[in-house]
Amino acid sequence: MSTVTFFRGQQLPLEMHKVRIIQKLNLLPIEERRQAMDGAGHNTFLLQNRDVFLDMLTDSGVNAMSDQQQAAMLIADDAYAGSATYTRLYDKLVELFGMDFFLPTHQGRAAEHILAQVLVRPGTVVPMNYHFTTSKAHITHVGAEVVELIPDAGLAVTSTDPFKGNLDVDALARLIDERGPDGISYVRVEAGTNLIGGQPISLQNYRETSTLCREHGILTVLDASLLADNLYFIATREPAAAGMSIPEITRAIADCFDVIYFSARKLGFGRGGGICIRDEALYRSLRGLVPMFEGFLTYGGMSVREMEAITVGLDETMDFDMIRQGPEFIAHMVEELDRRNIPVITPPGGLGAHVDAMRFLDHVPQQQYPAGALASALYIASGVRGMERGTLSEQRDADGVEPMAHMELVRLALPRRVFTLSQVSYAIDRIDWLFSHRKLIGGLRFVEEPEILRFFYGRLEPIGGWADRLVDAFRADFGSSL
Ligand code: F0G
Repeated sequence: MSTVTFFRGQQLPLEMHKVRIIQKLNLLPIEERRQAMDGAGHNTFLLQNRDVFLDMLTDSGVNAMSDQQQAAMLIADDAYAGSATYTRLYDKLVELFGMDFFLPTHQGRAAEHILAQVLVRPGTVVPMNYHFTTSKAHITHVGAEVVELIPDAGLAVTSTDPFKGNLDVDALARLIDERGPDGISYVRVEAGTNLIGGQPISLQNYRETSTLCREHGILTVLDASLLADNLYFIATREPAAAGMSIPEITRAIADCFDVIYFSARKLGFGRGGGICIRDEALYRSLRGLVPMFEGFLTYGGMSVREMEAITVGLDETMDFDMIRQGPEFIAHMVEELDRRNIPVITPPGGLGAHVDAMRFLDHVPQQQYPAGALASALYIASGVRGMERGTLSEQRDADGVEPMAHMELVRLALPRRVFTLSQVSYAIDRIDWLFSHRKLIGGLRFVEEPEILRFFYGRLEPIGGWADRLVDAFRADFGSSL
């Protein structure tokens, strides 16, 4: 793990790759951005990509691939059944995780669907460090309850705790006492808490969680979608892992689990997903749903080209220089925002920088979706597309009551190796400007609210016409600038 020191002491993330394919971008004038946002119902998911300058919505399926991944895609073995491409992916997963069985799926949520259908018993609970939108939807859909066991540190916006994603093992022990092992379908650990700042889990916490579950015969499931960043954080932040290589850390984590599933749109820098399983009987119980919902057992809904890219991407995930770029760019962005007193989740996590809309827009009540409003305002002010990760991303409970999210965040994802530092600087500059004009921004209300996963395609409108005021203030300050 070598680092580069700059002569004048600057701290800059230095890419260990070069860019060889580019895509031209388009930055609309603010008046057109405003119109585009109205057309999208103030929901950044509904914007057209041609209207977006920097797409920081997600890193899902939009990470830059390496030359080796592109090359591997050309030698994919196209066969409905028994393709050599599948065998290469299978072998790589066995090498990394040490589990003998694998079921391919078309993406991460398809793995969640299969696990929920087979393993989740109605009336039980599924404890986890923190939920993810699709994971929770699948579990509640089959009549079980999600119980989050995140310690207070995990929900503190600013902190120095290096592992804010840890699961509260004492709370898990109490829950096992209360419900009994039979009342728990499985314990799910998310390798990086997506909805609360992409915060990592320590190797020690993985081990303690696993030991407790095994003492009680409770199944352990790892959601490894965000594993690459978590490996980086364990390697750089955890003294107990000093001297361990990335493959050694990977195997040490895998050893803690019975099942590992992942979105290969994130882990492996491709598009797809899958479930690795330790036990043959468990594998057989899950297997039937793959040909039924996904595709035959040797592709599971993925294209062979993507499977080749994932195989190489998984191998590259074991290379520290390949996985450091994301967390190091994110740390740079978080530190620059923090230096400007812009409320942002600290310490920097994986996935992206997370702006705290609760403090940024402390005049907007949570019922008016401050994170959604800030995501909308940021697009209007900059053409940067972020994602609301707050109350809009929650689902109403069985009685129709809308739970308020623990945090109101605008996530600015940094897809790996996609943006340059000057583009990140532009985003920081416009967030800075928006912060100095924050009182202009008001809340949002639903015009159309879907019942399931409403954040994906719900439509909203600004309360009190604040979007016009924002455009006027921008023109007054920036003149004719885009
Ligand atoms: N689990 C985690 C932790 C995720 O971050 C995601 C996806 C999934 C499961 C579902 O995987 O999209 O392949 O079906 N996260 C994306 C995001 C959508 O933008 O954070 P999928």
